[in-house]
Amino acid sequence: MNNPKKIWKNARKIIPGGNGLLSKRPDRYSPDNWPTYYKSSNGVFVTDLKGKKYMDMAEMGMGTCVLGYANKYVDNIVKRNISNGVNSTLNSVEEFDLAKKILKFDKFADQVKFTRAGGEAMALAIRVARAETKKEKILFSGYHGWHDWYLAANILDKTNLNKHLLVGLDPLGVPKNLINTSVGFEYNNSSELKKISKRNVAAIVIEGCRYSYPNKEFIKTINDVCKKNNICLIIDEITSGWRIEPGGVYKKLKIKPDIVVYGKALGNGYAIAAVVGKKKYLSNAEESFMSSTAWTERVGFAAASGLIDFFVKNKVHNHINSLGKKVLYGWEKIANKYGIKLTTSKIPHLCTFFLHYKNNESLYTYFTNEMLRKNILASNRIYLSFSHKDVHIKKYLNECDKIFKEMKRKIDKGYNFKSFKSRYEGFKRLTK
Ligand SMILES: Cc1ncc(COP(=O)(O)O)c(C=O)c1O
Repeated sequence: MNNPKKIWKNARKIIPGGNGLLSKRPDRYSPDNWPTYYKSSNGVFVTDLKGKKYMDMAEMGMGTCVLGYANKYVDNIVKRNISNGVNSTLNSVEEFDLAKKILKFDKFADQVKFTRAGGEAMALAIRVARAETKKEKILFSGYHGWHDWYLAANILDKTNLNKHLLVGLDPLGVPKNLINTSVGFEYNNSSELKKISKRNVAAIVIEGCRYSYPNKEFIKTINDVCKKNNICLIIDEITSGWRIEPGGVYKKLKIKPDIVVYGKALGNGYAIAAVVGKKKYLSNAEESFMSSTAWTERVGFAAASGLIDFFVKNKVHNHINSLGKKVLYGWEKIANKYGIKLTTSKIPHLCTFFLHYKNNESLYTYFTNEMLRKNILASNRIYLSFSHKDVHIKKYLNECDKIFKEMKRKIDKGYNFKSFKSRYEGFKRLTK
């Protein structure tokens, strides 16, 4: 069976939501046309079930494959580990080796605890922060996963999390007693943060960055407020880490964390996440019960170790920075040429463009549909990788030019962009 629409329809009957990750649902790109399932991936290419090969100018495994798909260096290390047995009654020494390696890059930290997924790593970080400070309230900005501590922010009002990446997150099933235990604040808003940083706060959590860097005043406020009130500062680098810098972007920004959390790129597609922090906090993972069988499987440690070596040796962040600048400049140049209302994120490692029209979602879907015709996976965001080269960027921007030109012509003619189903980026329960 290689009909993706049929498989997806049937998958939704036996897997709630159709799969395990919201971001891989076809309705987030183009419900009618997205290929949805893949057979193989290599470098910057993904082959779908029908054998059609696409250049990935979209998510690169949702930001995991920072070196590109099927990176030989990492995969060979993993293969060696597989042939020696990925699990046993005894521990794998790769866990210890990886902890030592990571601590070389995070000088502020003394200890590391590994998990597999980013969300559970964040839950662990929150637990140790609460355990150490003996306080409960969490102040956060950004997206941090699906766990109760985070969704608690939407108990009072289901729209509270709308400003933090994902719209419509329903806290159904989260105990009502958690009301007011997590409160969101606006990124880069120092005065709001000062106002809400009271003594009962256990942790302040921010993403390293997403669409823009934190400003100097905001960084100073966070550093000061945490120090003054004995608040644990947690930097969620699950998306920004091992992409912008070797380790976390917090170093470049001079943020002074107590805990940093990595995931995604750390394993180049293999499941591994790390909570890295000061002993004062991390040692609570020994007092409070945190333990999982899957956390000790060997492949994740081996992959992360390989990723770190390759990343540092090849200065992967510099490569991505230089290509990202070309993409951002290219989008802006094309938009100016045709008079399209478009702005871009300011971080080359996390390139995103934003359209400013009433029917934005239809326009993004149109863009995706047209790119699919050219065998390119695309939305308004690109996670570039070490496997992307100038030739890919050139081809992509060349197609962007043609698509934006035609899109503007259609906008000017009053075309309604309703001949296809529009994407929906937020969370909604899928209807039959
Ligand atoms: C900043 C950030 N935190 C946490 C998470 C959750 O990580 P995971 O999906 O691996 O559970 C994500 C995932 O997109 C993320 O981007």
